[in-house]
Amino acid sequence: MTNSRAPFWEALVAYHAKGVVPFHTPGHKLRSGPFANVEAVLGSGFYALDPSDEVENLELKHDFRVVLAEAEKLAAELFGSRMSLFLVNGTTCGLHYLLMPTTGTVLVPRFSHQAVYSGMMLSMGQVRYLPTAYDPDWLIPLPPDVAQVEVAVADTDVEAFVLTNPTYYGTVGDIEALIGQAKARGILIFVDEAHGGHFGFSDKLPVSALECGADAVVQSTHKTLGSFTQTSMLHANNAFWFEKVVQAQNVLQTTSPSLVFLAVLDEVRRVLSVQGRDLVGQTLDLAMECRRQLGSIPGVELLPNHLQADPTKVVFSLRKLGLTGIEVERILRLEYNIQVELSDYYNVLALATIGDTMGSIKTLVSAISDLAKRRKHVGSRPLERHRLDFPPLPPIVASLREAFFTEKTAIDLESAQGEISGGFLTPYPPGVPVIAPGEEFTPDIIEHLLWCLKMNWHVRGLMPGQRVAILKDNCRFCRKTR
Ligand SMILES: Cc1ncc(COP(=O)(O)O)c(C=O)c1O
Repeated sequence: MTNSRAPFWEALVAYHAKGVVPFHTPGHKLRSGPFANVEAVLGSGFYALDPSDEVENLELKHDFRVVLAEAEKLAAELFGSRMSLFLVNGTTCGLHYLLMPTTGTVLVPRFSHQAVYSGMMLSMGQVRYLPTAYDPDWLIPLPPDVAQVEVAVADTDVEAFVLTNPTYYGTVGDIEALIGQAKARGILIFVDEAHGGHFGFSDKLPVSALECGADAVVQSTHKTLGSFTQTSMLHANNAFWFEKVVQAQNVLQTTSPSLVFLAVLDEVRRVLSVQGRDLVGQTLDLAMECRRQLGSIPGVELLPNHLQADPTKVVFSLRKLGLTGIEVERILRLEYNIQVELSDYYNVLALATIGDTMGSIKTLVSAISDLAKRRKHVGSRPLERHRLDFPPLPPIVASLREAFFTEKTAIDLESAQGEISGGFLTPYPPGVPVIAPGEEFTPDIIEHLLWCLKMNWHVRGLMPGQRVAILKDNCRFCRKTR
């Protein structure tokens, strides 16, 4: 469906053209004024299109929300949902709006983004985690499968399931089967599609969760489709839940959303509506060419196709040449002026989007080709291979929310057995918490974290001197009284 109108963008531009004299917020009064440095870089346009929600004009129908609703309706048509919302605090807030109204058990894969964890802090529900499996050869997190979910739901009434699809690395699970399984059991299914906003624009990309009947998805339009950073969209098929989402948005969202951000989302939607398939098709061609060229460089390995459902995430490794992904990222930044999206022990992820050109792809390929030659020259040896065996999930003693807001103290990691964690401890990368607030330190968890430290693996959340946050007064929750 194409729709070449962008009602919100057009209304805001028309409002600006009227030159209304603003005796209202924002304080810059739609002019750069004394902020010459900002204007020198951004120009005056950003100021001109940045009135607050006080705008009162026919073009904006005397309430910007009316025109916003028109724009959101067009987005719903384009992305194939019943209802859509424009978001000004990223996919993070979309996940918060979806999770805040839950009151029952919510199934959360352990490798979920921190926005899912914080969403569960806003919820009155309880978390049930799905442990994360890793691909043994590439050490990247794998999406859960139907059998794993079956075990998790067997003994509990589950209200909702939050699935991340695709993963950061472009891996997808059997989304049709997982959504079908949830639906058959009456479980709400929300999909974190932060990295999959472009899926609906090519038949060569994985199927979007909306098409498979998800109740709602949240997509970071800014990550893969070109809107301004922090702008996302929530698309929903479930009208009952959408009403709750809007209530949550009314509580959590600023009362002064940036009209520029909303207008740009609308204009991006218009462009995608007209040219989205061509733009995403060209991106795929570039990404495939990038993969082909990188794959032909001796010593460079590409993430294999069965793990790489979305080729726009160009994941490669120089482990045969003795370089970790983290080292490759650093070298690219310092010596070639290239910044990639992500790196881990083996892998580097270079993201290709509609903003790329053959020129940018060539720059990356020639840098990697040069680096590979240099490594061959010094006769480097392949990287040592590791296993990644995360310890069993620890028992949950207090809810995320209770633990997060309870007074904490710090003790040595080595003496934390039986204590309740006050924070997340997350070996990074890959960024999957080994322990979360409210969970008990078990011998397995402590042993694993000490092993990570021995391997010089960065553990987010660990305090200097290998100290960890625990709940000060754990008797309230009590398994163990100190
Ligand atoms: C899987 C995943 N979900 C959610 C988010 C949050 O998205 P946003 O930055 O749009 O708030 C991210 C951000 O990196 C992410 O990687």
